[in-house]
Amino acid sequence: MDMGIHGRKALLTGASKGMGRACALAIAREGADVTIAARSEGPLMATAAAIREETGRKVTPVVADVTTEEGRAAILAACPEPDILLNNAGGMAPGDFRDWGRQEWIEAVDLMMLPPILMMRATVDGMMARGFGRIVNIVSRSVKIPQLELGLSNGARSGLVGFAAGLARQTVRANVTINNLLPGIIDSDAQREHLAAMVEPDGPSFDEMWRARAEANPAGRFGRTEEIGAWFAFLCSQHSGFVTGQNILIDGGGYPGTY
Ligand SMILES: NC(=O)c1ccc[n+]([C@@H]2O[C@H](COP(=O)([O-])OP(=O)(O)OC[C@H]3O[C@@H](n4cnc5c(N)ncnc54)[C@H](OP(=O)(O)O)[C@@H]3O)[C@@H](O)[C@H]2O)c1
Repeated sequence: MDMGIHGRKALLTGASKGMGRACALAIAREGADVTIAARSEGPLMATAAAIREETGRKVTPVVADVTTEEGRAAILAACPEPDILLNNAGGMAPGDFRDWGRQEWIEAVDLMMLPPILMMRATVDGMMARGFGRIVNIVSRSVKIPQLELGLSNGARSGLVGFAAGLARQTVRANVTINNLLPGIIDSDAQREHLAAMVEPDGPSFDEMWRARAEANPAGRFGRTEEIGAWFAFLCSQHSGFVTGQNILIDGGGYPGTY
């Protein structure tokens, strides 16, 4: 299927590794030029080179932290008028809500809620004026599945999802869609770090927990980053103009509800 995005300009944050990288690669394969941002230069440059070599597309790496004003300004300066925006970054470690004070909550909002909203604010009017835009936020299944130890993620990411739901209805008439991908367990560095943080000295080992986690999923495995990339590419395509404000679970059936 032709996604119809050849020559489109895409801006992707959190795109040197994991799901963000897979998303950048997926749309570069469809002919988009990509600006990719992350904080660590080494992995970012390696990813840029790999995408360039495989696809022949223009790839612009930006070393920047999307949680800061300066970082967002640098990212937007490299691609001021994107047709496609992926909002992605990191998450926060699980914990006990009794240990989280105001500072921890502010950090969570500054990482998982405000950067995507501010990036949308900076780009959505231009997309509407040009008559095409595709915005996708990588969120988490945690906004649908209440896991108490992931409270910072549940809370801050729900704020993003709530905001995006309203904005999505204002932009779709101008062919600008806004959707959220809700990954379940995806095999990535972040997933490994998340699990490593849950290992206890007297409990099961990391490898035992990894296998048990896969086995507990209805699919019997972790998701693959390229499965996220493929969904992203379709949501960015010319075919997805009638899909907006949606929260799409990609979790192997892990969410236990019918609706
Ligand atoms: N993997 C899962 O199973 C899973 C499930 C649900 C939700 N999630 C969430 O989905 C998101 C992506 O996860 P992933 O597994 O793909 O992670 P990953 O493999 O660790 O990749 C994260 C990417 O984001 C970049 N990044 C992190 N913080 C950033 C910042 N402040 N500014 C700019 N770039 C930043 C990282 O590069 P630098 O570190 O160099 O900046 C890296 O390129 C995270 O928010 C995670 O919590 C993951």
